[in-house]
Amino acid sequence: MSKIQNRFKVVANQKLCPCFYCLSLEAPGMASKINPGQFIHIKTSDGLEPFFRRPFSVYRCKKTVDIFYEVVGPGTRLLSQKKAGDALDVLGPLGNSFQLPAPEVRQVVMIAGGIGIAPFLILSDYLKSKKYELILLFGASTKGHVYPMKEFRQNGCKIYVSTDDGSVGVKGRVTHLFSKIKTDPETTMIYTCGPNPMMAAVKEFVLKHNLKCEASCEEVMACALGACLGCSIETTSGYKTVCYDGPVFDIREIVY
Ligand SMILES: Cc1cc2nc3c(=O)[nH]c(=O)nc-3n(C[C@H](O)[C@H](O)[C@H](O)COP(=O)(O)OP(=O)(O)OC[C@H]3O[C@@H](n4cnc5c(N)ncnc54)[C@H](O)[C@@H]3O)c2cc1C
Ligand code: FES
Repeated sequence: MSKIQNRFKVVANQKLCPCFYCLSLEAPGMASKINPGQFIHIKTSDGLEPFFRRPFSVYRCKKTVDIFYEVVGPGTRLLSQKKAGDALDVLGPLGNSFQLPAPEVRQVVMIAGGIGIAPFLILSDYLKSKKYELILLFGASTKGHVYPMKEFRQNGCKIYVSTDDGSVGVKGRVTHLFSKIKTDPETTMIYTCGPNPMMAAVKEFVLKHNLKCEASCEEVMACALGACLGCSIETTSGYKTVCYDGPVFDIREIVY
């Protein structure tokens, strides 16, 4: 797989809701190489701190390469301060990508927990012109994590939201929305990304109904090239790296 490391210009960096930002990079050479599910590794500072790059799923890739992020620590705080015209050192695209649904699939369900929504806009961009019923089940802790998601609607997605405190949508976990899923193993395909307890619940549901499901995993990363083994996770066939073997795995493989 061909990767690029370069400095790319920030075109926009918008706060979309109290918790989430979207940053767009002018990166035409990289944009044409990206597939849904892949990520980029960003040096958030030109200084020594933070020393390591930070990984971000590609949120959208049209004229620009976009990431969607939450400020959780020093790297993402620095990102949130970037302005149009600044430059960022970026390595990518990295990792594998989502497999597209089999021909007999009719319903595609994306199950996202919080910032786990990040890899799904680009996936819905790919799937929107096909024949699928596209569904997004989005679980968040509270309304500060819920944003309009209008690009998903424009792609024809039906959106169902749950919040832990009930401030938007159904009160409770995203599992409360699983009734929207048609439990037909032939015609339903699920994609998921979010915190591990949520993905463990998705796995339980998928096994119960014998559905197909791919999960995009997140682990703290250093090299993102498969060399340091720092992002290894346990799978049914031994330890695998999220950065090189993943980040996308058949959910049946992952040991939670
Ligand atoms: C393949 C991949 C794709 C990702 N895509 C996105 C994305 O699209 N948008 C986004 O906002 N974030 C994404 N992340 C997570 C993102 O990389 C981290 O939030 C970021 O590195 C935090 O950097 P920081 O310096 O701000 O905070 P740090 O100080 O590094 O971390 C702050 C806190 O978050 C925890 N943390 C850091 N990274 C992770 C992680 N990967 N999983 C769970 N906990 C973590 C730390 O343990 C710490 O408690 C992705 C991670 C991976 C591996
Ligand atoms: S981060 Fe080094 S092997 Fe994945």
